[in-house]
Amino acid sequence: MSALIQSTPITARTAPVAARKSHSQKTLVSKSVASKTIRLSSFEGFSKAAAPVSFSARASTRRQTAASRSTMSVTAGFKVAVLGAAGGIGQPLSMLMKMNPLVSELALYDIANTPGVAADLGHLNTPSKVTGYVGDDELEAALTGCALVIIPAGVPRKPGMTRDDLFAINAGIVKTLCEGVAKYCPDAIVNIISNPVNSTVPIAAEVFKAAGTFDPAKVMGVTTLDVVRSDAFVAELKGLDMKDVDVPVIGGHAGITILPLLSQTTPSVEFSDEEVEALTVRIQNAGTEVVEAKAGAGSATLSMAYAAARMGESCLRGLNGEADIYECSFVASSVTDLPYFSTKCKLGPNGVEEVMGMGEITEYEAGWLEKLKPELTGSIEKGIKFAAGE
Ligand code: NAD
Ligand code: LMR
Repeated sequence: MSALIQSTPITARTAPVAARKSHSQKTLVSKSVASKTIRLSSFEGFSKAAAPVSFSARASTRRQTAASRSTMSVTAGFKVAVLGAAGGIGQPLSMLMKMNPLVSELALYDIANTPGVAADLGHLNTPSKVTGYVGDDELEAALTGCALVIIPAGVPRKPGMTRDDLFAINAGIVKTLCEGVAKYCPDAIVNIISNPVNSTVPIAAEVFKAAGTFDPAKVMGVTTLDVVRSDAFVAELKGLDMKDVDVPVIGGHAGITILPLLSQTTPSVEFSDEEVEALTVRIQNAGTEVVEAKAGAGSATLSMAYAAARMGESCLRGLNGEADIYECSFVASSVTDLPYFSTKCKLGPNGVEEVMGMGEITEYEAGWLEKLKPELTGSIEKGIKFAAGE
């Protein structure tokens, strides 16, 4: 691919204050990749010729290190699969990935309707090739050669349901799809969106363990929407520029297991106790806020597609060897006594290079941390037992 675009990469967060202060809990092996030079652009770059644009929040441009501001050396052209691509999240997410210059091939897999979605997206004048795959028989072709597999397959909530109520249907879907990943693209990074994430990530890990392909650096629960929401709510409340705000969110992805670390907001922001309480509770219930507003028509799709595209792009930029890429994600972790936990992760050429610690937390945040542990432990164990057939 030739060097067409001139703009800075903007999605991934450079190390925020909290991450820089916190300690590496786990170091995973990374390897370098052969590279070719292209320059990524952002939505800001729309005006700059008919060129691919990458999804991204603009926040990190301001915080980039000198190193990452310079021209990136990247390996252009990863194959990415979206499993559940015809759904409410799948379609806008696929469009955003079609716009990403790091993607050379986009495989859209679902149990129905992907040929139409692929035909539609195939008319975008961005360089990646899009193909639609339908049903079990085509899963192999969809997955073969993938560097990144994003999974939003499964049913969404309706008002009155918890994410755990989706377990009965979604656990089996994620298990089957991950069996395909283990078989056809065992080295791919897997981004799991399907709920309940607190259980589907352990299910995926158990499937990979059984297949002998488990790499903790490559199995990542997508909790980016919690960060996106936290950033938006804080910026709105404090009258800050959306693109400047970064709030780490730790724990898991359901109700009280979602723990925004407002004390580690960058830039540094003063909150009253009432504001901290109101924001924390709103962030924990933000998914439900959307489910109720949609009144039976599903859960967050557009904001989720945006968040997943940011996460996907960060993974691809890490694969390309770009430095200083951090995203919160629900991963195998030794930060707490729980086997899976979300904190900031440093992404690199092999997926998660380092699971960062949670840094210094306040007494208020520590209170929530203790409260969330039993629920999160239960959800993790439920996933592990399911995968074992118990
Ligand atoms: P949706 O019903 O609109 O789409 C789901 C898609 O999955 C459908 O197209 C369906 O055909 C497909 N599908 C079902 N079984 C499949 C299988 N075996 N293989 C491949 N595809 C299959 O739902 P949605 O709104 O896109 O939500 C999808 C999931 O994402 C839900 O579980 C939802 O709870 C979850 N979600 C997670 C987050 C998060 O932050 N992690 C945010 C929003 C939604
Ligand atoms: C969300 O946070 O929006 C998703 O997990 C979907 C849901 O069911 O709330």
